[in-house]
Amino acid sequence: MDDLALGRRLMERLEALARFSDDPDVLTRLYLSPSHKRAADALAGWMREAGMAVHMDALGTLVGRYDGGDADAPVLLIGSHIDTVRNAGKYDGALGVLAALTAIETLARAGERLPYAIQMVAFGDEEGVRFPSTLRGSRALAGAIDPASLEERDSGGVTVRELLVAFGCDPARITDAPMKRGSALGFVEVHIEQGPVLERADQPVGIVTAINGARRLKVVVDGKAGHAGTVPMAMRRDSLAAAAEMVLAVERLAKATADVVATVGVIAAHPGAVNVIPGQTTFTVDVRSPDDSRRDAVCDRIAEAVEGIAARRGLAAHFETTHRAPATACDPGLISALSEAVSRTGHAPLLLHSGAGHDAMAMAAQCPVAMLFVRCAGGVSHHPAEAISVKDADAAMRVLLDFLRTYKP
Ligand code: HGY
Ligand code: MN
Ligand code: MN
Repeated sequence: MDDLALGRRLMERLEALARFSDDPDVLTRLYLSPSHKRAADALAGWMREAGMAVHMDALGTLVGRYDGGDADAPVLLIGSHIDTVRNAGKYDGALGVLAALTAIETLARAGERLPYAIQMVAFGDEEGVRFPSTLRGSRALAGAIDPASLEERDSGGVTVRELLVAFGCDPARITDAPMKRGSALGFVEVHIEQGPVLERADQPVGIVTAINGARRLKVVVDGKAGHAGTVPMAMRRDSLAAAAEMVLAVERLAKATADVVATVGVIAAHPGAVNVIPGQTTFTVDVRSPDDSRRDAVCDRIAEAVEGIAARRGLAAHFETTHRAPATACDPGLISALSEAVSRTGHAPLLLHSGAGHDAMAMAAQCPVAMLFVRCAGGVSHHPAEAISVKDADAAMRVLLDFLRTYKP
């Protein structure tokens, strides 16, 4: 047998899933989009072929079950997300979903039954690109979702609720989504590292110790629209010029604080005409840190800076927190089980923390969590240049299968 057969199988599936995009030129697969539906339908077919009983929950999460040796066996969850950012890479999220599928398919083909059942999950809204909040599917499964979030609107003004119905889900069943508390042994997520540590250490895989907390703000700056040709500079209340100063303040405050990163990823000037002074500008701020109190302190200083700049320029500014996820420690027992699997597979069990957010953060409200990181070229992610090697894909598969076969509930 080709000694990279598992890696090749996984890479084939990643290529196939990457073809489901809402944009013909780049990979963009947003939550509840037509490409999300096509990807979920294809994935459901692959999961059934691999011997799983498959259903979709009220929030659009695809759930597959591979029974254990006995009917009352406890359940271990594995998986990740199938939504992407805009102009995405092929591996963020998809790797964890398809590694789970490939592992279950391998067990099923060998007729192997474990002392626990495996529940595979493919979450649909980890990135939080289409709507303000994020980790929607995993929060619902973990019993931590706010039903009001169904009323969030996308840039086209359509609510989550309306899109769930069009997707074929029943949002009224949001109350059925949560797993029974304590019913899962744990949640294990395979994911690309999205950073440079494994590449620098020349390791194919690593075990995550903790995941940085995240907080997202939406800032609205209200000035006064006017004619670009007639309003004297001294009389302007230009919301975009004010926002530009605020964005630089965000960068300065994050740079001045160890272990905190902050990003303004989206900015929009209204009415958005070349010859109109922007009356209103909105922008997002994404703040991350392993230390929640330090992250929140930077958010407070950003708020002060925003208010000070607005006041000095004679404008108004207000903001809201649209997402908050605490820094999350992975489970020591699962960390050591994964580390042993990495060692038995012939690699050094390198421990590292995650700067990126993951569904495991939400699942930690429900059960112990752990993550296996896979090296990605240059640490690049959220970009079409995202890449992993077939050898590293194979290494990850061998570690995952060794872990599953040796894990004792
Ligand atoms: O934003 C993140 O950290 C993740 O990739 N959704
Ligand atoms: Mn991800
Ligand atoms: Mn991502």
